[in-house]
Amino acid sequence: MSYVEGMFNLNGKVAVVLGGSGVLGGAMAIALGKAGAKVAIVDISTKGAEQHVNVIEEVGGEGLIFKADASSKSDLVKAKDTVLDRWKKVHILLYAPGVNSPTPILEITEEEWDKIITVNLKGLFLACQVFGEQMIAQNEGGSIINISSVSSILPLSKVFTYSISKHGLNGLTRFLAREWAPHRIRVNAIAPGFFPAEQNRRLLTEERKRSIFNHTPMDRYGEPEELAGTVVWLASDQAASFVTGAVIPVDGGFTAMTI
Ligand SMILES: NC(=O)c1ccc[n+]([C@@H]2O[C@H](COP(=O)([O-])OP(=O)(O)OC[C@H]3O[C@@H](n4cnc5c(N)ncnc54)[C@H](O)[C@@H]3O)[C@@H](O)[C@H]2O)c1
Repeated sequence: MSYVEGMFNLNGKVAVVLGGSGVLGGAMAIALGKAGAKVAIVDISTKGAEQHVNVIEEVGGEGLIFKADASSKSDLVKAKDTVLDRWKKVHILLYAPGVNSPTPILEITEEEWDKIITVNLKGLFLACQVFGEQMIAQNEGGSIINISSVSSILPLSKVFTYSISKHGLNGLTRFLAREWAPHRIRVNAIAPGFFPAEQNRRLLTEERKRSIFNHTPMDRYGEPEELAGTVVWLASDQAASFVTGAVIPVDGGFTAMTI
């Protein structure tokens, strides 16, 4: 095995990708599968999931699809039991479900606030409880990777509740990094910049696109595959052995930019 393969391969690992049917979750599920992990895609919608599993199987990997609401603890427990039935263990948890809305602050209803906080933050907490407990019981360490956003670092216009949820996600990431380091479970987050996807389709108008590009030194959107290197690195117990509690921007320089 080459140095690079030894550093980054995920052979023998089992990954659960919540929100794995989506654009970014799917690209990251495929990256984990190509690096050798067995991948369970768990999502409230299975649209797109089969295509992602096909790509993993084409390179000799294994995947499964489970329909579940990430904000329901009983759904998450069923997902965990299904994964354990098939592969016995869980080593990597990636949390990518995300919902968004551009409603102006004074017009946000309690219902909308609850929906976004429930999917983006409460679901993350529940998923970490369910799968983290399993990782602790296995006593083999593990890697939890949460998908944050540049709006957790800078106060982005138009996505108020979403941004607050991602600030909470960063906080949860740091708390669990500290709490679970004794169990050798690393907990990190990735903060993507702007990638056209389903949840932000309504938000990325021509006007907003111009303003995003003006604030992105690389002057373009990201491609979902550009998250692959970071997710495989964070998942790898060799390559990221001393990395925990970190929020890694993958944003074409967005968070490094000022006027
Ligand atoms: N696209 C971007 O520019 C961008 C930037 C920063 C962060 N993100 C984050 O990346 C993650 C993935 O989003 P995306 O852009 O690929 O959007 P997407 O809409 O393509 O994917 C989101 C996925 O989450 C799933 N989902 C929604 N509610 C769920 C629930 N209750 N239970 C289980 N699954 C649920 C959806 O079915 C979908 O498959 C999100 O957390 C998002 O906030 C995206």
